[in-house]
Amino acid sequence: MIIKSAKFVKGSVGSDSVIEDGTPQVAFIGRSNVGKSSVINTLVNQKDLARTSSTPGRTQEINIFLINKAFYLVDLPGYGFAKMPKEKKEWIEKMTDWYFFRSDCDHRLIVLIIDAKVGLTKDDLEILYQFSEYKKNVLIVANKIDKVNKTELAKQLEKIKFDVGEYKVIPYSAEKKSGVGELLYEISLVI
Ligand code: GTP
Ligand code: MG
Repeated sequence: MIIKSAKFVKGSVGSDSVIEDGTPQVAFIGRSNVGKSSVINTLVNQKDLARTSSTPGRTQEINIFLINKAFYLVDLPGYGFAKMPKEKKEWIEKMTDWYFFRSDCDHRLIVLIIDAKVGLTKDDLEILYQFSEYKKNVLIVANKIDKVNKTELAKQLEKIKFDVGEYKVIPYSAEKKSGVGELLYEISLVI
């Protein structure tokens, strides 16, 4: 798939006429700081379309990007950031829960991003379980493979594949831009 245009539409905090307008969506979710916004930037080949940060908790709204005037890439706030104030954490959980399980959004694919080095955390497994209960189309991106040496990576990927069962896993590095073609291909299959 070729990305011809990518435009920030808006940051949404829940039900609104844009996010539920019937446009097909590919959503990016995962732990805080795992690289969701960075992965989106590599897909659209722009440095700062989605805002990234080395401090966790950067993305706090549901950020919508219109791609090729045809579909949305949706950047969500991360979970599992211990230092976030309780109220904010609960608010983000509520918003995410609404987005995935109660909204009328046309989710074509959910990209669950995990850290290749860390593997699946308890929170990752919990959300994955929910997605499977709701029969969502999910793809796992194991990001930051540049931080793992080759031998360790092979072992880690085996473990990740075992943990996620039926879902496809794409090894990825937003830093080195590896895995981009494969992820774009998977997106093209659902759009
Ligand atoms: P929140 O919005 O806080 O949930 O974080 P996020 O998941 O959107 O992460 P973000 O894209 O902001 O990236 C977090 C940090 O990880 C930044 O410092 C990125 O530069 C770094 N990062 C992202 N992807 C990679 C990668 O593939 N390799 C390495 N080494 N660093 C990465
Ligand atoms: Mg982010």
